[in-house]
Amino acid sequence: MTTFRIAVLPGDGIGQEVTVEAVRVLQSVGKTTGLGFEFEQGLIGGAAIDAVGTPLPPATLDLARKAQAILFGAVGGPKWDHLPQEQRAERGLLALRKELDLFANLRPARCFPMLADASPLKRSVVDGTDIMVIRELTGGLYFGEPRGIERTPDGARAVNTMVYTTREIERVARVGFDVARKRRKRLTSVDKANVLVVSTLWREVVTRVAKDYPDVTLDHVLVDNCAMALVNKPTQFDTIVTENTFGDILSDEAAILAGSMGMLPSASLGLAGAGRGAVGLYEPVHGTAPDIAGKGVANPIAAILSAAMLLRYSLDRATDADRVEHAVVRVLEQGHRTGDIAARGEKVIGTKEMGDLIVRAVESQY
Ligand code: IPM
Ligand code: MG
Repeated sequence: MTTFRIAVLPGDGIGQEVTVEAVRVLQSVGKTTGLGFEFEQGLIGGAAIDAVGTPLPPATLDLARKAQAILFGAVGGPKWDHLPQEQRAERGLLALRKELDLFANLRPARCFPMLADASPLKRSVVDGTDIMVIRELTGGLYFGEPRGIERTPDGARAVNTMVYTTREIERVARVGFDVARKRRKRLTSVDKANVLVVSTLWREVVTRVAKDYPDVTLDHVLVDNCAMALVNKPTQFDTIVTENTFGDILSDEAAILAGSMGMLPSASLGLAGAGRGAVGLYEPVHGTAPDIAGKGVANPIAAILSAAMLLRYSLDRATDADRVEHAVVRVLEQGHRTGDIAARGEKVIGTKEMGDLIVRAVESQY
């Protein structure tokens, strides 16, 4: 029997609640297919700060390195917001991405037809949206040097640096083309080439890599224009590839197209590349949602769809991933809704009930 080692890092807030449901879904896949899963829990983020004083304890990093895949919840919260930048809960996640060199972040935003009315945008705009945002995750402003703040009697000066090398751009561009090739073969590279020299290089490298993918149509869009086009006519996009900060912003915007942040999964992959048994970290795009944490009302679908991505990209189990995704669609079609995706007056169910229904829908397909 094949056994997969999965590191489970629930983190803070609703991360604690939704990750449990994603684990249960994987367990039900295991039970029905005979696949073995070994789940090992680790501390990260605020929970780790409280327990051992640091957001990414060495034991957690070790656990993550030894695992085939990491199931991640969310980190951060008001309790830790007063800490200096380098000690905040979010640092745990950033350090993990960097340490494991998880440079390609895949964030699909699909508008399920039965949820089109959950989006604050008109159904006529969001209907049919199916976008994959690929965000570079280990470079740019997030990690560039120099960084820091100088305080003088005359005032302060703070610096972050947006920096990319050819190698960093090329490897994420290749993931972009590989992914686009398996979708509708259209890649949009997003930059700010009219202002930033980093973007000049970005555009140059992406254009060069495109020569290896003659079957994929490439276009370049400026980030401000892309932000507008995403809410104006989202259906014009297929696959988007962009640098770290632009991707952070655009992927939150894309979440609105899918109805709710509670629906969006993500995969962060390393060099083995998308779809080829890559080590990966899988996390819902939503955060810790302190306002609803601990109440059992969070939508576990983003976490469960992240588990589906884990099956697809790290374990090479596409059929099982499809089953999990179908199970989610079926439960939604049956009309079950958590608060974030319910229309006014619709019956609302909790995290665990939604998890139960999806587990049952997964099991009924085997
Ligand atoms: C995300 C989050 C993180 C980021 C935070 C929590 C550090 O916003 O995954 O998009 O900025 O990358
Ligand atoms: Mg973000």
